This record gives sequence, structure tokens and C-alpha cells, in this order.
Amino acid sequence: MEIIIQPDSREASRLAAKIVAGLVREKPHAVLGFATGQTPIELYRYLVEMHRNERLDFSEVTAFNLDEYVGLEPGHPASYHSYMRENLFDRINIRKDRVNIPFGLADDIPTCCRSYEERIHADGGIDLQILGIGADGHLGFNEPSSSLASRTRIKTLTDRTRKDNAAAFGGEDKVPHHVITMGLGTIMDCRTCLLLAFGRKKARAVAQAAEGPLTAMVPASILQMHQRAIFLLDEEAASQLTRTYYYKWVYENKPDWQKY
Ligand code: GLP
Repeated sequence: MEIIIQPDSREASRLAAKIVAGLVREKPHAVLGFATGQTPIELYRYLVEMHRNERLDFSEVTAFNLDEYVGLEPGHPASYHSYMRENLFDRINIRKDRVNIPFGLADDIPTCCRSYEERIHADGGIDLQILGIGADGHLGFNEPSSSLASRTRIKTLTDRTRKDNAAAFGGEDKVPHHVITMGLGTIMDCRTCLLLAFGRKKARAVAQAAEGPLTAMVPASILQMHQRAIFLLDEEAASQLTRTYYYKWVYENKPDWQKY
């Protein structure tokens, strides 16, 4: 794992944008995995800026999102379809037919999940998956106790996650109980995982995921088994790690050819 600690979320998001843009420039037909939540919003803002000011071209990029709520119309303001349109897809030149987000209104959820996996496979797999982390260590909507080998499927949210996501719905009681999420096995198949975490609220989950035991009770700890997982943190999210000095030294002393 590579653990990069930046002074604040702004710097971390800027670096994340640089990593994503570097991939898109090197591989214009890259397959990108996107996440939702508050955390990647600044990263998306930077990508929009780079598209406008530096002609960062998304015309050949394919996108797969991590998850979506079951039962929400794509046009519902709290849906992840709406979130992605507002924060990124409507502001860059990505082709709408190359955008994939689980369909929360599917009649046949198992078939919809299977076909999502098949589409990822048919597109050559995800080159880079952007990830946030839940305060309980969840990835996507893979709640604690999720199978570490899981694939795209329906999941039931915990009360804590419904509470954490209540603001977008205007009340906890309005947050759906069910979601469709890529599985931890699906995420593990992505060539690079780029996890962003900001703020003290995430410090415990980050420390458990990066330095704790590998356990289904902290789903993000599966990334310890990933060949190329990058944790991009601000100081607060890194505050419960025990080896910050080491991680900072490693990053500051990277050989030139390894620098982003
Ligand atoms: C939700 C999303 C996750 C996200 C998490 C954290 O559960 N499904 O993908 O990582 O929220 O959200 P935030 O970045 O708002 O803290």
C-alpha cells in the first residue's frame, strides 16, 4: 500500500486529480471507477477545471460507478446518478453511453448485477477505482461483514450508514435500506485503487484499514491484499496511523521515476 499524507483535503484532491489525469492522458480509453459522497467532490472539481483549462479529454473514457440506492429514480436528487451528473459527467465531455451506474429501479436485481459485472469485464476491467471510506470502514456500500470476495449485488445498509447519508435525503427515515454495490472482489479486480479520506471522522477507519488486521468487519482492510492501493489522506484522517513519519518519508523521497 502507498499511504500519502497531504496537509489538507485540497492538496490531496489536487494530487488525486493529477493521478487520474495522468492516466487519462496516457490511456485515453481508460476505464475509470467513480465514487460518490462528500469526499471526492473536490477531486471532481479539479477534473472539471482540467477539462476546461487544459483540455483534459474524457471522450474515450468509460465510467463505472460503485453503487446506487435501490428504489430511486435516476433523476431523484439524492440518487448517485444525479450526484455524478451534477458533480462531473455534465461538466466534462464523457460520452453518456460510456457511463455505467447500477440501476436502482431494476425489476430483476440479480440479473442487473450480473450484467454490471459482465460489462466491466467486456470493457477490459477498471484501470483506476476512486474510493471513499465509510466511518465504519465500508467501501462502496460493502458494510462490515461483507464477504471479502463479494461481487456486485444487493446489500442492506446499517443504521449508521443511513444516518451518515441522511443529509442528502432530508432525514434518516427517507434513506433507502437497500442498495446495489460493486463487491469487494469486484473492487479488488481494479488495477489501481485510489482511496481518499479526509477529516477526523475517518481517522479510525483509515487506521484500521491500513494498519489493523484484515477482517470483514473493516471491509477496506481488504486493500492490504491489493497490489496497487493508494491511500490519499489529509492530516486529520491520518491522525490515528502509527507510522506517519515513515509514510511521509517514503513519499518525500520517492525516486523521480516514481513521482506523480
Ligand atoms: C457512502 C458511499 C461510499 C462513500 C461513503 C463515505 O456510503 N456509498 O462510496 O465512500 O459514503 O462518504 P463521504 O465521502 O460523504 O464521507
